[in-house]
Amino acid sequence: MTDKFTRSSEEVGKQFEEADRSHVLWLVAELEGLLVGSADFQRGRHAKNSHTAEFGMAVRQEYRGLGIGEAILRAGIEWCRSVGVRKIKLGVFVTNNRAIHLYSKLGFVEEARLRGEAIIGGTPVDEILMALWFQD
Ligand SMILES: CC(C)(COP(=O)(O)OP(=O)(O)OC[C@H]1O[C@@H](n2cnc3c(N)ncnc32)[C@H](O)[C@@H]1OP(=O)(O)O)[C@@H](O)C(=O)NCCC(=O)NCCS
Repeated sequence: MTDKFTRSSEEVGKQFEEADRSHVLWLVAELEGLLVGSADFQRGRHAKNSHTAEFGMAVRQEYRGLGIGEAILRAGIEWCRSVGVRKIKLGVFVTNNRAIHLYSKLGFVEEARLRGEAIIGGTPVDEILMALWFQD
């Protein structure tokens, strides 16, 4: 939703420290000392939704298209399975072809569409809600 990362490293560090590790996974991708990507997976906190998790991710612009996003996402999916999550979900703008390609490749499918969730350059853009279910 934002094009800029505005939080300070202190704020992020505090968030890491305070995170409930049974429900939250933060992943970072590091290349030669540079943080090139990150993702956070949040598992549902209630009995009724603890089988679900949602995530957001981003890769530094110059490092996109190299497989880093796929590596991060596969690691997150593995964690979700290991803690008993059965459904992973996310929201993505319909214009975000790269992200949609990646999610579809890993088995996510569209479950719903929110009309005009964002206005980008004066044009309403739909958000697609996608999910990956584990059968076993
Ligand atoms: C979405 C994002 C996390 C993906 O990470 P990434 O490291 O670029 O992804 P990968 O390199 O692992 O995979 C990208 C795939 O998209 C494909 N791709 C690249 N450009 C594409 C395009 N314009 N249309 C369709 N597919 C495209 C690549 O070929 C690759 O697929 P392949 O492995 O089958 O060849 C990253 O691009 C990003 O940070 N984007 C901005 C933030 C964002 O959109 N976050 C997600 C919000 S839901």
